[in-house]
Amino acid sequence: MKALIKTDPQIYKLIKEEEKRLQDTLEMIPSNNFQSKAVLEALGSIYNYKYSEGYPFKRYYQGQKYADSVEILAIKRAEKLFGVPYVNVQPYSGSPANSAIYFALLEPKDKIMGLSLAFGGHLTHGSPVSFSGKYFTIVSYKLDKQGIIDYDQVEKLALKEKPKIIVCGATAYPRIIDFKRFGQIADKCGAYLLADISHIAGLVVAGVHPSPVSYVHIVMTTTHKTLRGPRGAMVMVTEKGFKKDPELGEKINKAVFPGLQGGPHDNQTAAIAVALKEASSLAFKKYGQQIVKNSKALAGELIKSGFNLISGGSDNHLILIDLTDKKANGAVAALALEVAGIIVNKNAVPNDPMPPFYPSGIRLGTPAITTRGMKEKEMKKIAEWINEAINQVKGEKLPSDKEKRREFWRAFKIKIVKNKKLLEIAKEVKAFCLKFPLF
Ligand SMILES: Cc1ncc(COP(=O)(O)O)c(C=O)c1O
Repeated sequence: MKALIKTDPQIYKLIKEEEKRLQDTLEMIPSNNFQSKAVLEALGSIYNYKYSEGYPFKRYYQGQKYADSVEILAIKRAEKLFGVPYVNVQPYSGSPANSAIYFALLEPKDKIMGLSLAFGGHLTHGSPVSFSGKYFTIVSYKLDKQGIIDYDQVEKLALKEKPKIIVCGATAYPRIIDFKRFGQIADKCGAYLLADISHIAGLVVAGVHPSPVSYVHIVMTTTHKTLRGPRGAMVMVTEKGFKKDPELGEKINKAVFPGLQGGPHDNQTAAIAVALKEASSLAFKKYGQQIVKNSKALAGELIKSGFNLISGGSDNHLILIDLTDKKANGAVAALALEVAGIIVNKNAVPNDPMPPFYPSGIRLGTPAITTRGMKEKEMKKIAEWINEAINQVKGEKLPSDKEKRREFWRAFKIKIVKNKKLLEIAKEVKAFCLKFPLF
């Protein structure tokens, strides 16, 4: 980073500080992951300069000899890895990819059916605060009392509402998704079925989560979560998708460009190609398997310590904890854990009585710590620290009055960073992390 130090020492310093923060802490937000140096090199490559509006061999700018090859390589690798006949690798990220799918297939006010945000769905699956809820008519399904998708309820709702698209996939769901059942439901009501596998793509590739490809028409995934690529996304059409609608690929291409985007980020495409090559290795398969082993081990330890895990455990890479029984709050716990060097996010739990900024739960996962080489033995230690840290904030009750809550939060933020036990844990975490270098 010689040029950067010289040109912009402030940004250089912030990059180095972030690197150190990551080295010294446990990154357990399930959507975060650490990419390989090879992926980062491709991302920071010369391709950042390029405009390539259009698609390979059909561009609006000259000078595409090599950029075309990069995009074709990314597409071919994705087709092979996921077993699909069509891929668009140009969406800038997951939200633009979902919007492209909707714009390809729907008219304003058409009906989308997705998992409610409050129950683990993503904003783009129909939340009223996102474009998806503002421009389309939304029907949301929920989870049952155990925190599992209620497939019978989904079927009933789908047959009653006749949505044009059903979205299966989630952002905070710890269990296997039954894509086959979703496929049967979509077929019964004539809907397109979109599997948003942003969170679990790496697990699908590793064979530790069933693939949706045989059952759905379209698959969307971000590339930066368990798939361990750069920030970005891909839209794939399956054989089943083409049977339903032979124009599906063309419609998606047109919706991505020129519908919603301009030039693709060729540097991002190059980095996606690298990540896809890595993901087709045996080492990646083992990585995916280890993510799940770690998540199950961590879930088991947390349950032993009396935590209430939504759905009672984890089949994938993430764990959702309702802290109500522990007399703790998600926002309070997430901050306490951060002081202890454990990075998670506060999260709503199903039927959460608390507002989204102070939800009752936390969400945590194992993709990034597994990338660092941690295994089941380390999960036991991490569960102990989580338990000890949350014990420090038991009984920290958020006032229901808004103004009093703001006051409480201000005072809590000052107090918690001085908590001796949490600072002790942070020291232990830092020493522990030394054994697992980031690169
Ligand atoms: C299931 C799901 N879909 C879509 C997205 C959107 O991706 P991005 O944040 O890249 O726009 C996310 C991101 O969290 C997600 O979890």
